[in-house]
Amino acid sequence: MEAKPVASGTGEAASKPAGKKPYVIAHISDIHAGSQYFVPNLMDRAVIELNELKPNVVVVTGDLTNEGFKQEYLLAKTYLDKLQCEKMLVVPGNHDARNVGYVHFEEMFGPRQSFFHRDGISIVGVDSSEPDLDYGTIGRHRYQWLREQFETPADFRVFLLHHPLLPVPGTGRERNMVYDAGDTLEVLQQCKVNLVLSGHKHVPHAWRLENLFAVNAGTVCTLRLRGKVRPCYNVIEIGEDVVTIWRKYPFHDADRIIKFSLSTFAFEKSRGDAEGEAR
Ligand SMILES: [Fe+2]
Ligand SMILES: [Fe+2]
Repeated sequence: MEAKPVASGTGEAASKPAGKKPYVIAHISDIHAGSQYFVPNLMDRAVIELNELKPNVVVVTGDLTNEGFKQEYLLAKTYLDKLQCEKMLVVPGNHDARNVGYVHFEEMFGPRQSFFHRDGISIVGVDSSEPDLDYGTIGRHRYQWLREQFETPADFRVFLLHHPLLPVPGTGRERNMVYDAGDTLEVLQQCKVNLVLSGHKHVPHAWRLENLFAVNAGTVCTLRLRGKVRPCYNVIEIGEDVVTIWRKYPFHDADRIIKFSLSTFAFEKSRGDAEGEAR
């Protein structure tokens, strides 16, 4: 039976008060427009599914392009422009910073850092890329800005960046990490951030670290895949107490990555995610 992300207050979200819908964030990543492995049909389908889902917010965690070229940005933008949502936040990835691609990013998507504070939800995104390098960095100069952003009163705080802050199983040799991941994680813990969303590894996964959950998205529409992982995007349903995160395969079913409580931080991870698929 198909297990679908729910945006209607049914199924997994049933613990919330009757009639109150979960707040839904759709998380897509690693479009890689222009890559030989980019599959237009998958991106078309993801757009249709997301417009049916009607998320409150869409977040895109980088690698919109493959080489940072203007025509690749234009192609990625044609898809993202079709998404209907209250707000979209986009941060660049290491591929977008190739060939001085960040100038096109700024022209088409605006600042490389972004924030959103509404309805008790705070989402803050930064550019973790460095020109022509594959590793990630946040940098000491941005910690204070992050602290100021997360000072806004909120019930749920989300941080976006392209590179994962924690290693992702099933991705081979550990490389291209965030150079200051430890310091960044400490800042996020101090800021009471609930959820970190990233991409880059093309493998969906979730970790809990103290009271912080770090959730990675796969590649939404490419065959740049590791092991048996399939193209997918994530759907985050934020209820009164329970947060449920799904990975959804365009054209296919969805399965739950993790479910956690905001009051106790107890969590339940589902079997059959990237660890198993990568073997
Ligand atoms: Fe990527
Ligand atoms: Fe990347």
